[in-house]
Amino acid sequence: MFAEDLIAKIKNARSIVVFTGAGVSAESGIPTFRDAQTGLWENFDATLLASPNGFCSDKALVWGWYEWRRMKVLHAQPNPAHRAIAELSNRVDHFALITQNVDDLHERSGVNDVIHLHGSLHQPRCFACARAYIFPGTMPDEPIEGRRLEPPRCQHCNGYIRPGVVWFGESLSEAAWERAQLAVRNCDLLFSIGTSAVVWPAAQLPIEAARSGATVIQVNPDKTALDQVADYNLHGQAGTILPLLLEAITQ
Ligand code: OAD
Repeated sequence: MFAEDLIAKIKNARSIVVFTGAGVSAESGIPTFRDAQTGLWENFDATLLASPNGFCSDKALVWGWYEWRRMKVLHAQPNPAHRAIAELSNRVDHFALITQNVDDLHERSGVNDVIHLHGSLHQPRCFACARAYIFPGTMPDEPIEGRRLEPPRCQHCNGYIRPGVVWFGESLSEAAWERAQLAVRNCDLLFSIGTSAVVWPAAQLPIEAARSGATVIQVNPDKTALDQVADYNLHGQAGTILPLLLEAITQ
């Protein structure tokens, strides 16, 4: 099913980067952003729900929506794609996992050190003083998408608590971005899995890896802008392709 040279390149790689997007969690029941019909940005207004201005103009709308997404993640389980990536991480000398996802399914599949470029649904902070907020251990009370929910208040300054994700118009964490760039510049092989590769600067990472001489392998059922850059385009669902690939490199 896979080309022999592809298998050889994976087997011989000393340093692998896996770069993931929403598609890797799709088979766990977490909606992507841009897939037709089911994509979040097909059904919800990103300018309201993913911007500091949107939060300031309607905090309860924004907080309720992210609590709905957090509830979905807490109910979800890692899928075969997450598990195959975790297994791959144990087989190579140097491994880095860079994700655009704000869920914790990579961590729950066994990868401890995940570079979260776009933040995390599980690490909210104060909008005013930026101090971290710890969620109570109970399941979020948000069963219905888009229900309004007042955000909690900061214990230190009484400011509003905001979701810990990177919104449009905001900068990525400098530390996360530097680590990601270092990893892609020094890898022999990069997998780009389940991302439309349209959101910058994240989308620049596979391109930088290719420029630095790494082999780029893309896993996605659809065509993306990265098809032109990738050395190998494996068209299919990550939860099917990755376990098969792992099996092929084990033989
Ligand atoms: P997108 O929704 O833009 O793209 C998801 C990709 O996953 C698409 O190319 C799908 O074809 C692919 N896909 C769907 N199901 C798949 C499966 N089972 N296996 C493999 N691939 C599959 O999501 P992202 O590229 O992650 O930013 O979006 C990037 C950023 O845009 C997100 O991090 C988010 C959003 O605005 C922030 O929230 C800051």
